[in-house]
Amino acid sequence: MRTQQGTPILRSAYQPLAYGVESVELDFVLDPTATQVTSRLRCVRHPDAAAGPIVLYGEALERVSLTVDGMAPAPGQLRDTASGLEIDVVGDVVNLEIVTRIDPAANTTLSGLYQSRGGFFTQCEAEGFRRITYFPDRPDVMARFTVRLEADKATCPVLLSNGNLLETGELPGGRHFARWEDPFPKPSYLFALVAADLQALERRVTTMSGREVLLQVWVEARDLDRVEHAMNSLVHSMRWDEEVFGLELDLDRFMIVAVSDFNMGAMENKGLNIFNTKYVLANPETGTDLDFENVESVVAHEYFHNWTGNRVTCRDWFQLTLKEGLTVFRDQQFTADMMARAAESPAAAASARAVTRIANVRVLRNGQFPEDAGPMAHPIRPDSYQEINNFYTATVYQKGAEVIRMIHTLLGREGFRNGMDLYFSYHDGQAVTCDDFVQCMAEANGADLDQFMRWYAQAGTPRVKASGEYDAATGSYTLTLSQHTPATPGQPDKLPLHIPVMLGLIGPDGRDLPLRLEGETRVGETGRLLHLRSDSQRWRFIGLGAEPVPSVLRGFSAPVILELDESDERLAFRMAHDSDPFNRWDAAQRYMERVILDLAAASADGRTMDVPQAFGHAFRALLIDESLDPAFVAEALSLPSEPYLLERMAPADPEPLRAALIHLMRELGQAMQADFLSRYLDLEVDGDYRYHPSDAGRRALRNLCLRYLMAWGGATAVELAVRQFEFAGNMTDRYGALAALVQSDSPRRAEALAAFHDRYRDDALVLDKWFALQAGAWRWSDAAPQTLDQVRTLMDHPAFSLGNPNKVYALLGGYFRANPGEFHRADGLGYAFWADQVVILDRANPQVASRMARALEGWRKFTPAIQDGIRAALERVAGSAGLSPDVSEVVGKALKG
Ligand code: TRP
Ligand code: ZN
Repeated sequence: MRTQQGTPILRSAYQPLAYGVESVELDFVLDPTATQVTSRLRCVRHPDAAAGPIVLYGEALERVSLTVDGMAPAPGQLRDTASGLEIDVVGDVVNLEIVTRIDPAANTTLSGLYQSRGGFFTQCEAEGFRRITYFPDRPDVMARFTVRLEADKATCPVLLSNGNLLETGELPGGRHFARWEDPFPKPSYLFALVAADLQALERRVTTMSGREVLLQVWVEARDLDRVEHAMNSLVHSMRWDEEVFGLELDLDRFMIVAVSDFNMGAMENKGLNIFNTKYVLANPETGTDLDFENVESVVAHEYFHNWTGNRVTCRDWFQLTLKEGLTVFRDQQFTADMMARAAESPAAAASARAVTRIANVRVLRNGQFPEDAGPMAHPIRPDSYQEINNFYTATVYQKGAEVIRMIHTLLGREGFRNGMDLYFSYHDGQAVTCDDFVQCMAEANGADLDQFMRWYAQAGTPRVKASGEYDAATGSYTLTLSQHTPATPGQPDKLPLHIPVMLGLIGPDGRDLPLRLEGETRVGETGRLLHLRSDSQRWRFIGLGAEPVPSVLRGFSAPVILELDESDERLAFRMAHDSDPFNRWDAAQRYMERVILDLAAASADGRTMDVPQAFGHAFRALLIDESLDPAFVAEALSLPSEPYLLERMAPADPEPLRAALIHLMRELGQAMQADFLSRYLDLEVDGDYRYHPSDAGRRALRNLCLRYLMAWGGATAVELAVRQFEFAGNMTDRYGALAALVQSDSPRRAEALAAFHDRYRDDALVLDKWFALQAGAWRWSDAAPQTLDQVRTLMDHPAFSLGNPNKVYALLGGYFRANPGEFHRADGLGYAFWADQVVILDRANPQVASRMARALEGWRKFTPAIQDGIRAALERVAGSAGLSPDVSEVVGKALKG
């Protein structure tokens, strides 16, 4: 049963239900094709809600029986609705017993109860619980859960659910059972069960108040040698939340379970986090530095949800950023602290923090900026949706985290902590709204955040224009900042936001100048937080002996696009001198963007592409500076991503852009081959692999050097890559070498791909890298195979499956999303293939299909010829029968635009 298509759900329509649930007892008799679920609900009338029936949601359920206070319902008392059931009742307390039957083996949506590799797993956020049993499946209904589950002991020796284990026992017929109780009331989206053949790595730790707790990471036996890092990450997360926020684990047992088939990264079910294997398993032989980093941050993210999400949850799904934006901010702070803690010196720690920040901003610019400029643009707290699963977005998560970060910037570390303390003191155990959160922040600090709240309501990336004027006669510098947020669907007009802008002024010697505003009696610090609140504001700095170079939006103090007219010379100057490492990196990115877009324009017009010499000099200065942190240099010399660059191009044209990128890498590789080579040789990391930011930074820069060398294409480059590939002692080096070899048209390319495949043929996660690398490959010469043909061929590979989201994201996502230069081929065959795959995927798994569908939502930014091809494909998908609400919302909005 599907909700009616095209009818949006409105935030303004929120109403509490007439009846909530105080407690629920669930009994699962697990069977692959016929699982029986018995649910006993104690329903209680909501004191303030309007009168009404008991409302239960249900989807894809077979109803076996239902009683109301022990009796069969009277005629007309029970009504089937489009979304489930309604039951007319009179009392304040009503007991329901409902028996349903479900088919986990046939559940390809991976929402609700499903099977993966012989085990049973659940995924209930956002609305999966209603696929298990009838329930008021909304986050504002918080109930105490007890769960009994029974299953076949041979195939499912491990039986888990939320909270504490009460009892286990044997049953006839080779079956067994377990009973679990979660002491904390929770919404149904946090329910979980697992019945599978798993083993645990266990650790006992003592919390800050002296309680001993049991930590378990459950995986298949063959993966036990890859869980150490996840366990360490969990322990570090627990310590960090105690130290930074005074928040302690509230259960005696905390479990993480890994599953191969999972739509997203991981899920914060109370006491029983369920993870995509990709974000649990990592050892040096199979995981790259990036995998280690991702495992650490996802483990932290889900653990942090225990307080920001579970103890205090969302009143309705429009408030999703209440838990997600805040929890992403928390995991970003955690990662920055972990990186800084591992550093050998204070300078290294500062650089490590900056590198973390740079990575966060890259994700925002690559994923969220395009979203905010397209037909799916929405505020971090949307006003309407057709399918909530479509709103687990970069906007809600990443921009949401930036909004929390701005609050942190405005209030300071202590002020923020005080606000958090107040939030938990007021709202522990409640389902609340974003207003409740910001209200606590304001109240704890006596701050006015009224205008700031517009960040929750307005979509679109604000533009902040900065211009400065120096008056030599008075030694003063006037900075003007103005703001403008472009119209987005449904929001033609925008109000000015409260934007914190961190500013520095750099003197001619490259050092920061102490700042003094007109009217101030004393000279201040070198950094100043400016509060831009109106359309346009001016600040006049005095006491300056020479014209300063402004460094605006240091640390990326707000999620905006900064428009600043800077000469090439100024960009090069800031690339060399900006004391704010984020802005130093950003200067390099801006300069690169400018060069690349000029090259792309030349390529489109058939002119010759020339890389400006001054850019080469600035680039080389960073490359050869051995005093800089290699991780920082690697970030600074990495090209901006294609999705971001396409957003900056008007109109967007992927083919000349790709040509420009290839040309630039070739020219730089060729011109600086000696420098790339010497850094490559010097950066080799001795000794056994350890996941450590300084080693990882060296490996990152070394692999970057290898890719530039390969772009140049000399025989030495191929030889170096082959050597690194063959003798690699860890996956970062082996994968780095393979990524470089994939750029080459030498026979070594195919040999390396085959060798990699043979070595990891039984390793699903490593094969995902192999699929993704081929789908995302650039064509460095006309001799290279057509990517579309490669992708088609790889879909027939025995290890590929459309039913496994990781495989789809690797191969199809690698092509549709990560390879615009190839996907947007002029003959339109890429789009026809996209339409076929989206329709096929949608029949089995709408969430995954919708993610793939979104690859084309930004189609209106492209050249007219490209738009024609895409429109036809979008129309074909939109017109196909039986489309899910997920895909129908995406293509519908794309076409409406
Ligand atoms: N709450 C999860 C997180 O952010 C996200 C999530 C996991 C999810 N699985 C999902 C969201 C399935 C929607 C559907 O950590
Ligand atoms: Zn989350």
